[in-house]
Parts: sequence; structure tokens; C-alpha cells
Amino acid sequence: MKKGLFITFEGPDGSGKTTVSSYVVQQLLGLGYDIIHTREPGGVDIAEQIRHVILDPQNTKMDVKTEVLLYAASRRQHLIEKILPALEEGKIVICDRFVDSSLAYQGVGRGVGFEEVYMINRFAIDDYMPDMTVYLDLSAQAGLDRIAGRKFLDRLDQEKINFHELVVEGYQEVKRRFSDRIFVVNADQEIETVQKEAYEAVLKKVKAYV
Ligand code: TMP
Repeated sequence: MKKGLFITFEGPDGSGKTTVSSYVVQQLLGLGYDIIHTREPGGVDIAEQIRHVILDPQNTKMDVKTEVLLYAASRRQHLIEKILPALEEGKIVICDRFVDSSLAYQGVGRGVGFEEVYMINRFAIDDYMPDMTVYLDLSAQAGLDRIAGRKFLDRLDQEKINFHELVVEGYQEVKRRFSDRIFVVNADQEIETVQKEAYEAVLKKVKAYV
């Protein structure tokens, strides 16, 4: 039986998820909350190994359905090994990316279909969905501009702008579908403002829960 609180961060590449979620985690730790911070794809050894296969720029032959299944497999392992045990101990779990990423990137970005990807993922996660999702809202182009200077771009980062624009469209569908749990932050602002808005929203949720 789940007792903790499960919060995810979502957004297109370059939207600042890790910077913002790390700030939120640090603030909440400072207030004494029991938190774990994790990420997808990855978070535990087996899932990190799957991450390596998915994101390796050499794997240009990967079929899109294989990609869907690998993300779902990595997600399941992470959920079973790390997220659910932490929630059962009453912890707050903050995770960079979860199911919504698959819906946006594979469902719409790759064109596999929102419902198809949702169905596969529901099987993988036994319908465990986040209690709250912070969506960092940024255009595909602004996100790509931000990551352009990075030394390493993974297989998905290297996709063309059209793919990333579809991903952002996919996230609009995610927002419509799951409006009850999604909190949108305009990520096209000073990072301090983005961090503050995200933190205030998460803190409100945490206080309402504890
Ligand atoms: P990251 O850069 O946020 O660590 O994520 C790695 C890439 O994987 C990023 O381009 C988004 C992508 N991704 C998907 O395409 N589907 C998914 O289900 C997840 C979790 C990530």
C-alpha cells in the first residue's frame, strides 16, 4: 500500500528539469522532509543499463516499438526496485521524467500513438501514476538552443527539430488528459524564477499531504 508522495518533473530537452528538481529537493531536504531524488530512464542498475542501450547514438537501427518497450522495461524495474519501496516507507519520491515522457516522445514524437504507448505503460507500472507532475513549459527550439553547447548529445537529443516539436505537442495532450495532476511552470524565465515557482507548488502539495 502506497503511503508516500510521488512527484515527477517533465518537459522537453533543455527545459531545465534536473536543475529545477535538484533545487526543489535541496529546499525540501533543508526543511527535514524524507526525500529521494531519482531519474528516468535509469535510477537503478538494470534500468541504467537499459538507458545506455536506448540513448547510445550508435543504435541508429533501433525500431520505435523496441524503444517504447525498452523505456517501459526500464520504468518497471525502477518502479519495483526503488520508487515503490520508498513510497511504502512514506518517503517523498521526486523523479525526473516518468510515463508522460513516453507518451510525448514515443506516443506523439515517434508517432507510435498516445493510447498504444499508454497501454504498454499501464502494463509496466500496474497503473501507478504520479500524485503531481511539474511540467516545465518551453518551446522545442528554445530547448534545443539551450542544449546545443553540450559536449555529449544522446540519440534523442540529436533528433531534428520536427521531432522535438511533436514531443511538445505530445506534452500538450498529456496536459489536457491529466490536468488534475499537472502543474505548469513557464520555463522561459530566469532560472531562479522557475525554481521558485516549482518549489512553491511542490511545497503546497507536500504540506497538503503530510
Ligand atoms: P534525459 O535527457 O532527461 O535524461 O532523458 C533522456 C532522453 O530520453 C530525453 O531525450 C527524453 C527521452 N525519453 C523518452 O523518449 N521517453 C521516455 O519515456 C523517457 C523517460 C525519456
